[in-house]
Amino acid sequence: VEETYVMVKPDGVQRGLVGDIISRFEKKGFLLKGLKLFQCPKELAEEHYKELKDKSFYPKLIKYITSGPVVCMAWEGIGVVASARKLIGATNPLQADPGTIRGDLAVQTGRNVVHGSDSPDNGHREIDLWFKQDELCEWVPAQEPWLKE
Ligand code: GTP
Ligand code: MG
Repeated sequence: VEETYVMVKPDGVQRGLVGDIISRFEKKGFLLKGLKLFQCPKELAEEHYKELKDKSFYPKLIKYITSGPVVCMAWEGIGVVASARKLIGATNPLQADPGTIRGDLAVQTGRNVVHGSDSPDNGHREIDLWFKQDELCEWVPAQEPWLKE
């Protein structure tokens, strides 16, 4: 099954945007498998963003992600990885389309309120990294016959 790791970053939590952001994925029809408020340790932030470790903004990025609690989410669904990226919008919020999370709710790349996995492989990898197995639920929502033919 396809799944993606979505995270409300510390700015989104501090600005009271958690409900709005969760609601967009929920209303779209994806299946929520895991959800927690979490203070990210530095080591986990470094592992999550290891591909960016040579970038000039990397130290700021680690400081940002560990600066307060984040909301970790695991979402499942057909095409959920690419669709979540579309709902989130471009990395630079000023280039993100209106109607997307970043387009509606943010102005700077370094404060872009939300993360979404960039491939199905990374979706699995990041959910494994951020959640313990017993924090994830397999379930069938009552709305399923009204969502899928
Ligand atoms: P994520 O969903 O958070 O992974 O964003 P992304 O996939 O749209 O972008 P990418 O993976 O390339 O970068 C990860 C995160 O690093 C971004 O979301 C930003 O928070 C941060 N970042 C990327 N580029 C810059 C930059 O030029 N300056 C700053 N300050 N932060 C950046
Ligand atoms: Mg990314």
